[in-house]
Amino acid sequence: MAKKLEGKIALVTGGTTGIGLATAKLFHEEGARVIVTGRNPKTLDEARVQLGGTADVVSSDAGDPVAIEALFADIARRYERLDVLFVNAGIVRIGTIEESSLATFEEVMRVNVVGPWLSLKYATPLFRAGGAVVLNASINARLGMVGSSAYAASKAALRSLGRVAAAELAPRGIRVNVLSPGPTDSGITEKVLDPAAAAAALAHLTERIVMKRLGTVDEVARAALFLASDDSSFMTGEEIVVDGGMTRV
Ligand SMILES: NC(=O)c1ccc[n+]([C@@H]2O[C@H](COP(=O)([O-])OP(=O)(O)OC[C@H]3O[C@@H](n4cnc5c(N)ncnc54)[C@H](OP(=O)(O)O)[C@@H]3O)[C@@H](O)[C@H]2O)c1
Repeated sequence: MAKKLEGKIALVTGGTTGIGLATAKLFHEEGARVIVTGRNPKTLDEARVQLGGTADVVSSDAGDPVAIEALFADIARRYERLDVLFVNAGIVRIGTIEESSLATFEEVMRVNVVGPWLSLKYATPLFRAGGAVVLNASINARLGMVGSSAYAASKAALRSLGRVAAAELAPRGIRVNVLSPGPTDSGITEKVLDPAAAAAALAHLTERIVMKRLGTVDEVARAALFLASDDSSFMTGEEIVVDGGMTRV
């Protein structure tokens, strides 16, 4: 069977762990030349081992404008074009509005909104007709979950960005779609909560999911592949929700 991304150049931001890593593996299996980014030296090294030379693993801070510009200049030099952009790097910070600092709010916005906006800006000249952008948002964009204000607002902004970018890039034959996962077993919750609190939070979320389980990173990666490939050739400005029915039923 023909591979879905044969010969494509695909960038996965935040591709060193979780959903990004699973998607990078899948994109490679489907014939893409894959570039992944991350920031943490330890996860960058681990990703190099896990991807086993099947992807270029690049250190690039998704919240740093200078680094983002340099990343796309480097891609232009080495690959001359980009066919698929999966804007996936993202962070979660938890705390009520009252107890959170401005610095934390701005940190989330820098990585989850400013970085994606700049990535779109610098990726656009590299795309040809047929290009596809997938923005990884979250169902939190539509939930009033206590303690998630910065994260939820950042993901709502990303959803909005997807609509505008879809309209702006359609005349050039570039599609832009949004992926909104629900709670997914990627380890992201464990990064911001201690083990007991993370287990309690995930148990609480699982109870709210109609399918009574978390999603897997591979299930989200398959939806990303659908939006990145010609399987979704008549879709742009759309959002696919992958949440076990949590916000749909
Ligand atoms: N898991 C869920 O339940 C869920 C649900 C909805 C949406 N999402 C979204 O899915 C995306 C991936 O999350 P995940 O669940 O797979 O979590 P994850 O395993 O923590 O993955 C996050 C990825 O982003 C990278 N990253 C974070 N900050 C970065 C920065 N400043 N510069 C470069 N890379 C950076 C991380 O690399 P480092 O190791 O270098 O930090 C890692 O590769 C995020 O946008 C998240 O909001 C996740």
